[in-house]
Amino acid sequence: MSLDDLAIEYRGELPTAQEFERLFRSSGWTEAFTVPADRLEAALPSAWYAVCARRGGEAVGTGIVLSDGVLHALIVDVIVMPEMRGHGIGTEIMRRLVARCQEAGVLQVQLFSARGKRDFYERLGFVVRPDDGPGMELSGPP
Ligand SMILES: CC(C)(COP(=O)(O)OP(=O)(O)OC[C@H]1O[C@@H](n2cnc3c(N)ncnc32)[C@H](O)[C@@H]1OP(=O)(O)O)[C@@H](O)C(=O)NCCC(=O)NCCS
Repeated sequence: MSLDDLAIEYRGELPTAQEFERLFRSSGWTEAFTVPADRLEAALPSAWYAVCARRGGEAVGTGIVLSDGVLHALIVDVIVMPEMRGHGIGTEIMRRLVARCQEAGVLQVQLFSARGKRDFYERLGFVVRPDDGPGMELSGPP
């Protein structure tokens, strides 16, 4: 099936709280840690920019940018519903998130690749940070 056949509409907006919860719970991440619905909803207003992919009005994918609008942007929560994966929706969401950051002239656009998604992001031009200047995190949820 081509992308045109799928008739996906991309909007520069957040999914609703209910849609975001459905997308988030489909990601597989909740096997590693639990986030209650009210906490998930509380995360949404911090978005600097977001894209929601819709099919027939229903949210099938999203991606969110957290940013100071000048120096740093962090792309998070890039999720496509499992049954809709592999058709280029994730790539288009990413393309739009990055374009918005570039339009705003944000200096550094960063993300953490989930396990197994390195190729997906490298195809979009992202490079792994060097060993002597790695991304770092406190130990906790993966
Ligand atoms: C990562 C994720 C968002 C990708 O979404 P997606 O819509 O499947 O992404 P795409 O379809 O653009 O690309 C996926 C694959 O399909 C291929 N593809 C892209 N367009 C295609 C098309 N039109 N037809 C067929 N295949 C296509 C791509 O080459 C890509 O291959 P890869 O898996 O080897 O990288 C999705 O797998 C997901 O939601 N995963 C769970 C959450 C997650 O881990 N998110 C990443 C957080 S860092």
